[in-house]
Amino acid sequence: MFKVAIITSSDSGYKGEREDRSGLAIRKIVEGNGYEVVQAILLPDEKDILSAEMKRICDERAADLILTTGGTGFSLRDCMPEATLEIGERIVPGIPEAMRSFSLQFTKRAMLSRAVAVIRKSTLIINLPGSPKAVNECLEYIITELNHALGILKGEVSNCGRE
Ligand code: MTE
Repeated sequence: MFKVAIITSSDSGYKGEREDRSGLAIRKIVEGNGYEVVQAILLPDEKDILSAEMKRICDERAADLILTTGGTGFSLRDCMPEATLEIGERIVPGIPEAMRSFSLQFTKRAMLSRAVAVIRKSTLIINLPGSPKAVNECLEYIITELNHALGILKGEVSNCGRE
C-alpha cells in the first residue's frame, strides 16, 4: 500500500478562516483507491515553509506520494509550483499536462493552473489546484496511472508490461 502525504497551501485555511475541503477531497479519493494517508497538513502560502516540509517528507521517505492542493494560480501569494520546483530533482511534465488537457472540457480556466509535478528521491510530488471541484476532476483522472508510476519509482515494477 503506497503512503500519501497531503499538503494544502492556503493562508485563510491556515488562519482557521476556511475549512480545508480540498484536502478532504484528496483524502477521500486516495483512500478509495487503496492508498494510506500518513499525513495531512495545512500550511500558509509561504514558499520556504512549503518546500521545507516537502523536502522533509521526501528525505525521511515518509511518503511515496505528496499531493498538494492550492497555490497554483496567479495571485501574488500563490507559490506552490515554485516551492515544488525548488526541491524537485526530476521534473514530470506529463502529469500536469494531462490534468490541464483533461480539465479544459470542464473550464477553460484550467489553463490558469501553473501546477507542476516532480520526483525527489523516491517520492513523487504532484500539485493540484485549490478547489474541491478541481481536485476531484484532476485527481480522479490521473489516479489510475499512479500505482504504475509509483511501482516503477520504488523499483517494484521493472517494465511497462511490454517486451
Ligand atoms: N482545473 C479543473 N479541473 N477544474 C477547475 O475548476 N479551476 C482553475 C484552474 N484549474 C479549475 C482547474 C482556476 S479558476 C484557477 S485560478 C487555477 O486552477 C488555479 O487554482 P489555485 O490557485 O486554487 O491552485
